[in-house]
Amino acid sequence: MSGSEKMLETTNALQTDRNLALDLVRVTEAASLAAARWIGRGDKNAADGAAVSAMRAAFDAVAINGLVVIGEGEMDEAPMLYIGERVGAGGPDMDIAVDPLEGTVIAAKGAPNAIAVIGLAERGNFLHAPDIYMDKIAVGPHLPDQVVALDAPVKENLRNLAQAKKCEISDLMVCTLERERHAEIVRRCREAGARITLIGDGDVSGVIAVAQPETGIDLYLGSGGAPEGVLAAAALRCIGGQLQGRLLYEDDTQIERARSMGITDPNRIYTVEDMARGNVMFAATGVTNGPMLRGVRHFQSGAITHSIVMRSKSGTVRYIEAHHNFHTKTWTAS
Ligand code: FBP
Repeated sequence: MSGSEKMLETTNALQTDRNLALDLVRVTEAASLAAARWIGRGDKNAADGAAVSAMRAAFDAVAINGLVVIGEGEMDEAPMLYIGERVGAGGPDMDIAVDPLEGTVIAAKGAPNAIAVIGLAERGNFLHAPDIYMDKIAVGPHLPDQVVALDAPVKENLRNLAQAKKCEISDLMVCTLERERHAEIVRRCREAGARITLIGDGDVSGVIAVAQPETGIDLYLGSGGAPEGVLAAAALRCIGGQLQGRLLYEDDTQIERARSMGITDPNRIYTVEDMARGNVMFAATGVTNGPMLRGVRHFQSGAITHSIVMRSKSGTVRYIEAHHNFHTKTWTAS
């Protein structure tokens, strides 16, 4: 291949990559617009179902040979976007991690922080996490490696983080899901003098918040879904930050399930790079308002969506506000 041919190939690959990232936003926008019709209507399954169908349909226009590795469940549990399902119009082999509606309960209540989210990596680069809990700790970028550790006492983590950030523990803001199981974490944070933001649901954005200075969140602590851990890792691969996660098992069946998905050491602590390797892309669109994204806003002839898209290759983070005109005859949430 001549030098100019090589250059053309590189340019084309770069262009494909960039376009793909924008195509992903169209997919999360479609899911978010569909879920938004159900905001506050008290039916989380309907909201989730609408997001799933819209996301599944939108994938048909994306030029990839996608394989769902984090999805809505096993084939016999989920009619669409099940683990192992092939999606896309054909193209490069990609792994897909999806949560068409992250925060089903909050969407049904009309509470903050529901999003539609996708992670994408080259084939074989996402951790195949079973749908069980994962213990998580996360901090933002530009901090010493392992400044906090999953197994260290809460106070020690806060002390080390405050030292690295050259501030007092009382300046730090910790985020965790408001759950009974986190009572001890909350007690220890308060005892050490840190401040806390309790979120009702949605730990994908909870974890990502540590890497976004404007949120004011310094540390994420606590357990949530393992699939959500992989999605958050995809985002941190793009914007930087540290996340450690360990799968939590409720019984032997869950350990067996993890084994069947290729997990050989059930007690392993996974880092961002263990969960999302290679070139990664991440896209999310707000369904209801949150610290990262605004929710869908309807107007007379359409709706406005607010999305974020990022690529690990460039590290660029883009916020996209899209005005969708429902009165256009060909309108298809794109
Ligand atoms: P859903 O979108 O499936 O409702 O998940 C919301 C969520 O808050 C996740 O963000 C989080 O990882 C998980 O639930 C926590 O699980 P639990 O509600 O059982 O504590």
